[in-house]
Formats: sequence, structure tokens, C-alpha cells
Amino acid sequence: MKTYRQGDAELAHIRRRKVAIIGYGNQGRAHALNLRDSGVANIAIGARPGASADKARAEGFAVTDNAAAVQDADVVVMGAPDELLPAIYARDLEGHMKHNAALLFVHGFALHFALIAPRRDLDVLLVAPAGPGSALRANFLSGDGYIGLFAVHRDVTGHAKALALSYGVAIGCGAGLIETDVREETETDLFGEQAVLCGGSAELVRAAFDTLVEAGYAPALAYFECLHQLKLLVELMQVRGIAGMYKAISNTAEYGAYRSGPRLIDEHVRKTMREVLSDVQSGRFANDWVRENAAGLPHFHAMRAEAAAHPIEAVGEEIRAMMPWLTQTTQKR
Ligand SMILES: NC(=O)c1ccc[n+]([C@@H]2O[C@H](COP(=O)([O-])OP(=O)(O)OC[C@H]3O[C@@H](n4cnc5c(N)ncnc54)[C@H](OP(=O)(O)O)[C@@H]3O)[C@@H](O)[C@H]2O)c1
Repeated sequence: MKTYRQGDAELAHIRRRKVAIIGYGNQGRAHALNLRDSGVANIAIGARPGASADKARAEGFAVTDNAAAVQDADVVVMGAPDELLPAIYARDLEGHMKHNAALLFVHGFALHFALIAPRRDLDVLLVAPAGPGSALRANFLSGDGYIGLFAVHRDVTGHAKALALSYGVAIGCGAGLIETDVREETETDLFGEQAVLCGGSAELVRAAFDTLVEAGYAPALAYFECLHQLKLLVELMQVRGIAGMYKAISNTAEYGAYRSGPRLIDEHVRKTMREVLSDVQSGRFANDWVRENAAGLPHFHAMRAEAAAHPIEAVGEEIRAMMPWLTQTTQKR
């Protein structure tokens, strides 16, 4: 694993360039604010009329439509949702970007699955903070720094790597920029969110909640035991590792973990995980998501409504109302 830090980058590379950021959402806003605070003076936000455009303007940025924002930009940052990027590139970027500019992705989905074929004269980079923009910004302000991944997908100018490192440090990832490639970043990101972070963990919580409630236990207790306390354990794992987390819990809890964890996550689940990975690697998941978008997201909206109707949501709302100190520390990823 090749990792670069603050001292390996030259901030001057990004400071002297004009950066256009498409979208002012979770990532785009944090990148824009951190770049400005790192001394990048020439930043344009490409936005459509609406809440994001208003916010960017209120926070002091020049906001135009995408084509106007990118036309004299040296670096164009893809901060809009992945599923919208192909249409945005084709309509607003391809014919308007400067010769030899750099196209910078925050996640490799559209690039890896060939939904975008960047013009041959463009440098193509990936700089992906390892977490949400809200945390990237908070750590920048606190001075803690952040970790990011970067990849040089295409280097036409000979300066692509220096630019990627400079950009990565300027947005606050100077604690560690891990070099990867677009395939690896895309496939591990999709697999991680499906198997654990968003898919596996939420389904595990719901299944455990259902098991307790079906057996006659109070939904409030089921909520506390299966969802609310998860954060504490995840924090322990994040800070100390899994073995370190075991040291911090009671011997009874630890013994139960060894006895029941592998019974739950058994060979059948591991086989399914390999199938999920294979779906990602083969492009089956990406094709499915592209088709779903083209059809107007009917299954996506149905599944979202079904998830929102699960009984854990009603009890959770009641319980969270009793804990006003719980704040939005983790906004939309
Ligand atoms: N969120 C994360 O934690 C995270 C982490 C790593 C990488 N990424 C990557 O970062 C990229 C951006 O994701 P995000 O989570 O930051 O997205 P997001 O929070 O949903 O924000 C998307 C932004 O794009 C804007 N937008 C939508 N359509 C547009 C258009 N046609 N022209 C200009 N702007 C448009 C939206 O503005 P409106 O208000 O007008 O809709 C919004 O400001 C993706 O590639 C994602 O995979 C995200």
C-alpha cells in the first residue's frame, strides 16, 4: 500500500488553478469550503437552480450553470450523484471543458463501468475521502485531518499525480492519501456498503429486532439492544479494532460473541457475500442500477417505502424523541 502525506504534496499546484465543482451537496460543499480555506482562490460551483445553488451563493461562492462553470476551469470535480454524472458530462462538460484540463471523480462508479468516456485530452483523476463530506469538513476545521484514496486514471499532461496529491491535501486528506486504482476503489466501495455498512448491518439489526419482538419482548428494549447500542460497539472497533473491542466488553458478552457470531455469519452467508461481490465485479449491479434509473426508480421507491414502514422506525422515533442530545453527527453519506 503506497500512502502519501501532507509533506508529499505541493499545495501550489492546486492553488494556481481554477477549480469548478459540479454540485454543492455532501462532498461538493466540503471540498469547496476546504479548498478555499487552503488558499484556492478561484472556485466556481456548477449547479442547477435550487437549494444547493442558493446555499453555495450564501456561502460566498460564484455559482453558474455547469457549462459556464467548467469552460475555463483547470480542474472539474464530479460532485453530483453518480447516477446523474453521465448525462451531466455529455450535456454540460464534454463540449465545454478546456483542452488538457483535469476531470476529477470523488467515486469511480461512472468511470469504472464506462458510463462516461472522458475526452482523450483530459487528465482523469480520482480523489475519494474515506467518509462523508460533513466529517471531512469537521476534521479540517478541528485540524485532525482525514484519510482519502486517490488514483491517476489517465495522465495526459504529466502532472496528474502531483495535482491529485495537491487536491487531496487541500481538501483535508493530508493525514494519508492511499494510492489505488479506479477498479479497486469502485468495487470495494460498492461491496462494503452492500455487505456491511448499509445493506448487511441494517438487515441484521431489523432481523434481530423482529426476532425479539416476535418472541414477545418490548419493542423499545429490542430497539435499544439491537440498534441503539450498536454505535458504541462500532466506535470501539473503529478506535481499537475487533480484538480491542472484545477487551472492552464483559467476558459474558465476549463469550456469547464467539459462540453465536459464527453461527449467524456462517458459510451460507459467506457464499452469498461472494455472490454480492461477483455482482459488483461483473457489472451486474451497475447495469441493474442504470436500468432502474432509466425506468424512473420504481423498485427503489417501493423498497424505500417498505423500509420506512418497518415497525423499528416507529419505535425508534419515539425513543429518539426521549434523547434530544442525539444530534445529527452523521449526515447523509
Ligand atoms: N457522500 C459521501 O459520503 C461520499 C463519500 C465518498 C464519495 N462520494 C461521492 O461523491 C459524489 C457526490 O456525492 P454526494 O453524496 O456528495 O451527493 P449529494 O450529497 O447527493 O449532492 C449532490 C449534489 O449534486 C447536485 N446536482 C444534482 N444534479 C445536478 C446537476 N444536473 N447539475 C449540477 N448539480 C447537480 C445536487 O444539487 P440539487 O440540490 O440541485 O439536487 C447536490 O448539490 C458521488 O460520486 C459519490 O459517490 C460520496
